[in-house]
Amino acid sequence: MKMDGRPVDVAKPHLFNERTLDGYRRTLADGIDRVVSRIGRADRPFTGISAAALAREIAEVDLDRPLGEAAVALDELEDVYLRDAVYFHHPRYLAHLNCPVVIPALLGEAVLTAVNSSLDTWDQSAGGTLIERRLIDWTAGRLGLGPYADGVFTSGGTQSNLHALLLAREEALAGGREKQHRLRVITSEAAHFSVRKSAKLLGLAPNAVIVVETDADRRMRPAALARELDRCRRENLPVMAVVATAGTTDFGSIDPLPEIARLCAGAGAWLHADAAYGCGLLVSRTRRHLLDGVERADSVTVDFHKSFFQPVSSSAVLVRDRAVLRHAAYHADYLNPAGTAGRIPNQVDKSLQTTRRFDALKLWLTLRVMGPDAIGALFDEVVDLAAATWVLLNEDPRFEVVTRAQLSTVVFRYLPADPGRALAGEANLYAREALAASGAAMVAATRVDGRHYLKFTLLNPETTLDDIAHVLDLLAGHAERYVNDRVPLGVSAG
Ligand SMILES: Cc1ncc(COP(=O)(O)O)c(C=O)c1O
Repeated sequence: MKMDGRPVDVAKPHLFNERTLDGYRRTLADGIDRVVSRIGRADRPFTGISAAALAREIAEVDLDRPLGEAAVALDELEDVYLRDAVYFHHPRYLAHLNCPVVIPALLGEAVLTAVNSSLDTWDQSAGGTLIERRLIDWTAGRLGLGPYADGVFTSGGTQSNLHALLLAREEALAGGREKQHRLRVITSEAAHFSVRKSAKLLGLAPNAVIVVETDADRRMRPAALARELDRCRRENLPVMAVVATAGTTDFGSIDPLPEIARLCAGAGAWLHADAAYGCGLLVSRTRRHLLDGVERADSVTVDFHKSFFQPVSSSAVLVRDRAVLRHAAYHADYLNPAGTAGRIPNQVDKSLQTTRRFDALKLWLTLRVMGPDAIGALFDEVVDLAAATWVLLNEDPRFEVVTRAQLSTVVFRYLPADPGRALAGEANLYAREALAASGAAMVAATRVDGRHYLKFTLLNPETTLDDIAHVLDLLAGHAERYVNDRVPLGVSAG
């Protein structure tokens, strides 16, 4: 590409329009080829590079001296990104709630960024708005939220939870805002941290979130919820919302939704179901019943980028009564004048965001190419794998496993035999770091009852039980070395 001439003449060939379509096709094809080559060669989910080493490479890039050619920038990108990225498609990426993605969704991503619709107003999106609305209706139908349901796509579960709790707060304050400092949100100790973050963002009191205990399967105890609802009533603390989790981040446990819904109805409390993770059950042909009760929620979070094999980001918040969405509606003459509400389908009237990606297109193409059953079959596969992994761990004397998962996570730890037992926490932390540094596999870590544990989040239907067994051997090897280096005479957990 020519680098001389007036800057604007140099810049114009980079604009995407009817005159630059050949360049668009060539450039994108080159980018796809680099990804193809990288994915084809990735024998590990990660290279294990340190943040400091990568930061040095990135700091050396002179952002004021452009390379001119996309091909040259892609060469550079190999070094600053592609070579050392964390690859979620790899069967030994077993760490966080990141799924491998399906090709129809990648197609959607390519189309939506090129057309670049913004879903805030009809006059910036046209059909995109209607496609998003159809998908919201489809999701609400799968949830069973009834004829008045509605919702909107969001950037992720955190935003969906915040949005739902904002609506709940506004409903709770309908009689007067002076009680805001007394509002309470009840959730379980296994709930996602975005519940507490939302409470803070919503200006609730620092002690507004009441955390109730879970049972041995890490599901909210309805008796504990009943006790707290009762206490709040007696102490004149209005319960703004109860947040039940359908698929907790650590344990994949699903709170007992029917009992919780019954208690919420009795107390007149808003029920929010955080199904960010568990929403994959909506398309499972064998496990949909695990979400029974979700149809009684006032609001629901679903993250298609967790269990529908969609690229980040793709999430939605849904409500049973579309009228509550008005609490986040503002009008501007330059965008969505008040008189247009209801007449022109402006999604900004329902959203916390203004300019917003057409993420719904990815799910649309996924459903149109593959259909819901195919997505459900992929999710069922990883839930089956988690069940088999639990059996494997339960029979392995080197490890202790916490709960039998309802979804696809398994929390466990390496358990050194005495006299190394006291080093269990450090040994597990070390094993996780050593594994990541080797790049051979990636697992997550968490704490259970104050102790360090490891976690598999299984979202890749290509991961096999052999992969799991191999990773367990690697983890045990690292942990054992850690213990043996510190405990004389050698220790083995066997
Ligand atoms: C249960 C649950 N809710 C909400 C979230 C937040 O979702 P996001 O990361 O998309 O904001 C997560 C993320 O892991 C989650 O597990």
